[in-house]
Amino acid sequence: MTQAPEAILLVGGKGTRLRPLTVRTPKPMVPAAGVPFLTHQLARARAAGVEHVVMATSYLAEVFEPYFGDGSDLGLHLEYVTEEEPLGTGGAIRNVAHRLHSGPDDPVLIFNGDILTGLDIPALVATHQESGADVSLHLSRVEDPRAFGLVPTDEAGRVLAFLEKPQTPEEIVTDQINAGAYVFRRSVIDTIPTGRPVSVERETFPGLLESGAHLQGMVDSTYWLDLGTPQAFVRGSADLVLGRAPSPAVPGRRGESLVLDGAHVAPDAKLSEGTVVGAGAHVGAGARITGSTLLDGAYVAEGAVITDSLIGAGARVGARTHVTGAVVGDGADAGADNELRDGLRLWCDAVLPDGGVRFSPDR
Ligand code: GDD
Ligand code: MG
Repeated sequence: MTQAPEAILLVGGKGTRLRPLTVRTPKPMVPAAGVPFLTHQLARARAAGVEHVVMATSYLAEVFEPYFGDGSDLGLHLEYVTEEEPLGTGGAIRNVAHRLHSGPDDPVLIFNGDILTGLDIPALVATHQESGADVSLHLSRVEDPRAFGLVPTDEAGRVLAFLEKPQTPEEIVTDQINAGAYVFRRSVIDTIPTGRPVSVERETFPGLLESGAHLQGMVDSTYWLDLGTPQAFVRGSADLVLGRAPSPAVPGRRGESLVLDGAHVAPDAKLSEGTVVGAGAHVGAGARITGSTLLDGAYVAEGAVITDSLIGAGARVGARTHVTGAVVGDGADAGADNELRDGLRLWCDAVLPDGGVRFSPDR
């Protein structure tokens, strides 16, 4: 290898499970710990020595370049390639290959755009080089692997199978999952078919194994979280603020809360467990906000109690309303004296009347 490894970032997914946060904003651009989530991934790649990153965009593709530009603010050279129709993960990788400068045997890093992790990127590249693999995969162990790609390996770490989103109990053969970071030998990328959707998980990896290619797994126990659901997203943002998840891009010191410039927090309000208060947001008297994220311009009235929840940009939470494990979409108004709980997602611009939603028994 004559140069720093290049990277491809897959950022074109629709972020369906994260709606309504992803109605107006693609998943990688939703702010986590005060900056678009993607900033953390780019900063970690840069810190690992990556200089050239190609972004594979599709859904809401137009918002990435105005924000990140040519990447020079992050010390990177960023390029963008937009799919006219979504090409799937494998198709997206193939579709950007013409922007790579790597030679046929060089390692190319590929990252899913929604993973928060402490992965040792140089160690994954080293594993790839030392094993002589065609593709190397970062693997993580999780309690419930059903939402992921299962990747059993032999004692030397060689991948034995790739089972995406197993449907039956018999298919759950391991707790090792695809953690969404790969090193591909460049020439392997060039074998992915062009001009049609390809799933790297359902087609490319099983096909490579079938043909006898060498896929190598690197399992570790570092921090790992897929931010694909609102609960995970809020958790990841809080972990960044608390310093549990590593990132060079968190603006400000680690601690119980992160309050961005131009936010107003009443002196007796309580912010804890990694809470973020976005720019221009307002937290009223006596409000308690725990492990939650308020995006820019959100307004939380006096006495509101917000726990493990996400309050969208410009959204309002009225006085004494309790929000627990729920999402209030951008521009929505959750009214006063309401109780929102348990995965409830209030859509963008929706309006609840005061005292209109209750869970607990009336006194
Ligand atoms: N450019 C482009 N085009 N990107 C895409 C497309 C597409 O058509 N489809 C998905 N992506 C991007 C998403 O934006 C995301 O960053 C990444 O590819 C993975 O897509 P997800 O939709 O987040 O997949 P997942 O979370 O269900 O599963 C994947 O990640 C798991 C780890 O979190 C798989 O790779 C699993 O095997 C893996 O375990
Ligand atoms: Mg995902």
